[in-house]
Amino acid sequence: MMDTKLASRLPEQSAPDDTGPGNLVVEGVSKWFETRRHGRVQALEDINLNIKAGQFVCFVGPSGCGKSTLLDIMAGLTKPDRGHVMADDQPVTGPGRHRLVMFQESALFPWLDVFGNVMFGLKLVPELTQRQRREIAESYIKLVGLEKFAHANVHELSGGMKQRVAFARALAPDPRVLLMDEPFSGLDALTREQLYADIQRIWQTRRKTIVLVTHNVREAVCLGDRVILLSPRPARIREDFAIPLPRPRDINSTELAEYASHITAALKNYLRLDVSE
Ligand SMILES: Nc1ncnc2c1ncn2[C@@H]1O[C@H](COP(=O)(O)OP(=O)(O)OP(=O)(O)O)[C@@H](O)[C@H]1O
Ligand SMILES: [Mg+2]
Repeated sequence: MMDTKLASRLPEQSAPDDTGPGNLVVEGVSKWFETRRHGRVQALEDINLNIKAGQFVCFVGPSGCGKSTLLDIMAGLTKPDRGHVMADDQPVTGPGRHRLVMFQESALFPWLDVFGNVMFGLKLVPELTQRQRREIAESYIKLVGLEKFAHANVHELSGGMKQRVAFARALAPDPRVLLMDEPFSGLDALTREQLYADIQRIWQTRRKTIVLVTHNVREAVCLGDRVILLSPRPARIREDFAIPLPRPRDINSTELAEYASHITAALKNYLRLDVSE
């Protein structure tokens, strides 16, 4: 459902050539790392994925399996050793403003206030005037509910507020794709629940393609159209679950719990199989 009140508050900010659909295709991606201790370590094994524009996709997999590596490759921050990523039919060869990453730590600039941090993201959009940037920054700060804190310093914010600022900073340049690496893992359950609601509301309004990595199966079911299970390292896609539950979803609902327990059982089963392989 479109939140029209919210949508009308947001400025029309994209030039026509910037409003790409946000499709992502990952084809045959494998990745190895040279490490001093363990020699050559394989992080990813033949990952193939087709993510449609506007889809919300969650990756779940054990710690160290290669989730961040996959996200970094999709962002263009890391190069795969085999295969490639296509974003709207163009090969991804480096980072770009259309695919922004939100990291586990909010990675805000401590010398800038909330407004300054969101404005910083808008430097990625050179065609905007300073006035447009200010309006867009203000609208996103409102969108994440921090208008009273626009001029607060980063150290004055709670963990949840910092993640909200990071979210506003990532959304403000209007990227086609938002890649989120465990953005909620350091937060308490209540703050997380509030952010799940916020993110669903904003995603339904702005319709970005979102790829989110998490350890938390319920979180994945609450947010994703698809939940993709990855194996222990090297990460391989084990299963791709469709989650057709209506939105907005409540993480505490029984329907959601049923999906989550089904997926958790599959995850445990694969872990057992993977370990004995
Ligand atoms: N730059 C690097 N150099 C060497 N090894 C690396 C590098 N980046 C990742 N690795 C290795 O690749 C594997 C996958 O790492 P990655 O960070 O992608 O896992 P992850 O699934 O995100 O883990 P976590 O859930 O703990 O965040 C790990 O064994 C890690 O040690
Ligand atoms: Mg990681």
